[in-house]
Amino acid sequence: MAVLSSARRVLPWACNGQAALARVSGGALGTGRSGGGSLLQSRWQSSLPQLDPVDRSDEDSTGGDIDWDNLGFGLTPTDYMYVMRCPQADGNFSRGELSRYGNVELSPSSGVLNYGQGLFEGLKAYRRADGAGYMLFRPEENARRMQDGAERMCMPAPSVEQFVHAVKQTVLANTRWVPPQGKGALYIRPLLIGSGAILGLAPAPEYTFMIYASPVGTYFKEGMSAIHLLVEEEFHRAMPGGTGGVKTITNYAPVLKAQMDAKSKGFADVLYLDSVHKRYVEEASSCNLFVLKGDTLATPATAGTILPGITRRSIIELARDCGYQVEERLVSIDDLVGADEVFCTGTAVGVTPVSTVTYQGTRYEFRTGEDTLSRKLYDTLTSIQMGLAEDKKGWTVAID
Ligand code: COI
Repeated sequence: MAVLSSARRVLPWACNGQAALARVSGGALGTGRSGGGSLLQSRWQSSLPQLDPVDRSDEDSTGGDIDWDNLGFGLTPTDYMYVMRCPQADGNFSRGELSRYGNVELSPSSGVLNYGQGLFEGLKAYRRADGAGYMLFRPEENARRMQDGAERMCMPAPSVEQFVHAVKQTVLANTRWVPPQGKGALYIRPLLIGSGAILGLAPAPEYTFMIYASPVGTYFKEGMSAIHLLVEEEFHRAMPGGTGGVKTITNYAPVLKAQMDAKSKGFADVLYLDSVHKRYVEEASSCNLFVLKGDTLATPATAGTILPGITRRSIIELARDCGYQVEERLVSIDDLVGADEVFCTGTAVGVTPVSTVTYQGTRYEFRTGEDTLSRKLYDTLTSIQMGLAEDKKGWTVAID
């Protein structure tokens, strides 16, 4: 039955009653290390919204041999992951728990493996400069977006409270992996999958929510520098009535071909056009898009084919605060190539300036550098996210 397993750690949530037994065994968190017992006891005593204390006495206080200056966006396995099950597909998630990070056991006929019934989220935790804990950025918005996606994908979803609690627990259990301030962030990846076995095409009978984390630096290999994008004309990311507006896992593998082709030609990513008119720009494989012309900033409206990015929404608000007119509307290829400035937004990419866009063999250049709106918005956003500027909007959530 196990298609994904490891000697190091097999999680107990797969699909039978022995799961509970495995949860309370000393090995559930120990994996050859000592000190898991007190954590297990305290875990069963606490309830939402308290945070479970995590015993990290068996861990080094820093993230191993990590070169914090050259993090990039690769996976660095951390110590713990969070797992919460919904055994009846009725929306009642069991109490979640931390487990050692490791492989999971899954039925070959699970809904996620066979029919792609799954969603993911992405958010970041930052270390505060004053050493007073960690900061999350709008985690409730990720929770709500997961709920919206779950509705579209016929899945139950954790409540906002359960989601945020789980994120906090995951950060607290992995604090040694949160990069020093200015070096990056702890990227948090919540997943919601149809883990139950199903053969006919139907929603899975059981669901699993889990979160893992990894320290990350910049997303693109260009680092903080501006990127080059290619407008993709053959493949589309989304279609009206499809799932482009939710963060289902099935939106991502289909973009790989276009992305890999573009990368082989030296581009950082591709920009997708709408699938009906092939004339309106939608987004890149991993982020939303903004174009600036004069004092007007435009971004494609989220009408079902665009991912409603949390960074996107925050940037719209911050740009309006700076006096710019911001329009959510159709953005044509002409709007794009005639723009003064172009930039991308997303949790992983932050605010990334675009130096050129290539469309039908012609390369169009845009303003980049110090004196740009994207730089100003990047500075404002990251200062709030890291706790360096006052958060007048109540966007950040502190973890002490
Ligand atoms: C994120 O920005 O968090 C995403 O989910 C994009 C992903 C392709 C890295």
